[in-house]
Amino acid sequence: MTRRALVTGATSGIGNAFARELAKRGFDLVIVARTTDRLESVAAQIRSKHDVTVDVLTADLAAPEGVRAAVNVVTDTTRPVDLLVNNAGASLAGWFGTTDVAAEDGQLDLLVRAPMHLMDAAIKTMAGRKGGQIINVASVAAFTPRGAYSAHKAWLVNISRWANIHYADVNISVQALCPGFVRTEFHQRGEMDVSGVPRWMWLDADNVVKASLKDLDKRKSVSIPSLRYKVLAGLAQYLPKTLVTRVARRGR
Ligand SMILES: NC(=O)c1ccc[n+]([C@@H]2O[C@H](COP(=O)([O-])OP(=O)(O)OC[C@H]3O[C@@H](n4cnc5c(N)ncnc54)[C@H](OP(=O)(O)O)[C@@H]3O)[C@@H](O)[C@H]2O)c1
Repeated sequence: MTRRALVTGATSGIGNAFARELAKRGFDLVIVARTTDRLESVAAQIRSKHDVTVDVLTADLAAPEGVRAAVNVVTDTTRPVDLLVNNAGASLAGWFGTTDVAAEDGQLDLLVRAPMHLMDAAIKTMAGRKGGQIINVASVAAFTPRGAYSAHKAWLVNISRWANIHYADVNISVQALCPGFVRTEFHQRGEMDVSGVPRWMWLDADNVVKASLKDLDKRKSVSIPSLRYKVLAGLAQYLPKTLVTRVARRGR
């Protein structure tokens, strides 16, 4: 039977790479983002290459009605979602404590509340079917003290680790995907200066997605693509936090 995946933030970057790779593997798709014309264009490209259905949902996942619309797709038992990819995300320009707190609310809604609601809906629905998979796109920033963004991503890592164990008996796997720097629209949108980031630190979105799906097959709760970032994330746990914070200053 054809499997179906819902991917948030599929118009660009890592989400777009997930949508393309999953279609290649035969998944029907529901792709979600705010920009309808970009969603339609991604859907048309995928349909032209693969024999899968692609539904689009225009939704702002920082808004309750947008989250509700996506949750409705996940809970629709007539067209089950077998794989949920909570990927949509962005970064605020500026550190917590200097930004508008209303914008911080929006970040919390997009990076934590939306994936939390979608994961809740997915677990409840998938448990009834005794199977399903969830990927929460976090970041290696989750392992370093780096403002509100890293705190939000740490929430995703922590709950994914727990849920992957807790729901194993109903055959649900939950993964936190923790990439380092990936070439996408993310840094430009967040007005980040990444000119000082060395070339070796950049990852390719397609490779990140392939590593995540490979780890999902192995039911790993945390996926850190590439050896270099596995080493860095490991070191971050043991080095003094003042040093880790200084080294990790530039990324998100
Ligand atoms: N790039 C990196 O270095 C990096 C590293 C670690 C983790 N990550 C994480 O990877 C995820 C994907 O980021 P990316 O690098 O692929 O960034 P990106 O190229 O900027 O893509 C972000 C995607 O999220 C969507 N999106 C943004 N705000 C949204 C909202 N309010 N509601 C619905 N959709 C929204 C965007 O589409 P619309 O604008 O059309 O809504 C777009 O499809 C994020 O969670 C990010 O935190 C990125």
